[in-house]
Amino acid sequence: MKLATLQGRKSMKARLVTLAAVFGLLSCSADVEDAAIEPDYVKAHDIRELMLVVVQPQADRFWGASGTVSDMTGMHNLAPTTEERWLAAQSAAATVAEMGNLLQTPLYAEGRSKDWMEFSKSLVEVGLQAQDAVIDRDSDAMLTTGGTMYNVCAACHEAYMPYRGGAAPDAHGD
Ligand code: HEC
Repeated sequence: MKLATLQGRKSMKARLVTLAAVFGLLSCSADVEDAAIEPDYVKAHDIRELMLVVVQPQADRFWGASGTVSDMTGMHNLAPTTEERWLAAQSAAATVAEMGNLLQTPLYAEGRSKDWMEFSKSLVEVGLQAQDAVIDRDSDAMLTTGGTMYNVCAACHEAYMPYRGGAAPDAHGD
């Protein structure tokens, strides 16, 4: 009985020591996390590069995954035929959406008017709709959201790139 109590006490002490150690670790890892959450992002592309290297190619990839093309051998459905291509179309739509988020950060939005935010938010919305259409394997919805996406590009260009006559670059990339 006496021995049992002693052991009980001992193990209680051991548990307290363990708890203290765990708390020690926790507070220690909290410090590490605090240090790690300091953002350190840079403007890796100016707006034109971002458009030419990321936004346009990804939008093209999404646009190129719906509708039809005709050539000498007839009409061809552009819908992806492999899982890999479906994923590429989804990834393209997702990237367009995320570019809309990026455009809202001070990196790209600083000094722009309020409508910059609106256009950028619309890009997020239409990118997510486009992604949903891909996930649903809904070619009609992909075609419709592709059209809306094009209009969002054109609307922002009209406001911020009027020297190009407001035209969004061609949907199939020239
Ligand atoms: C929030 C505004 C905004 C949205 C939305 C937007 N763009 Fe742009 N885009 C710009 C601005 C501003 C420029 C001009 C950059 C410069 O030359 O300084 C530009 C330029 C471009 C260019 C380069 C044109 C050239 O030859 O100089 C391409 C290509 C382009 N955008 C494609 C797109 C596509 C495709 C979309 C839609 C999927 C899109 N953009 C959506 C603001 C936007």
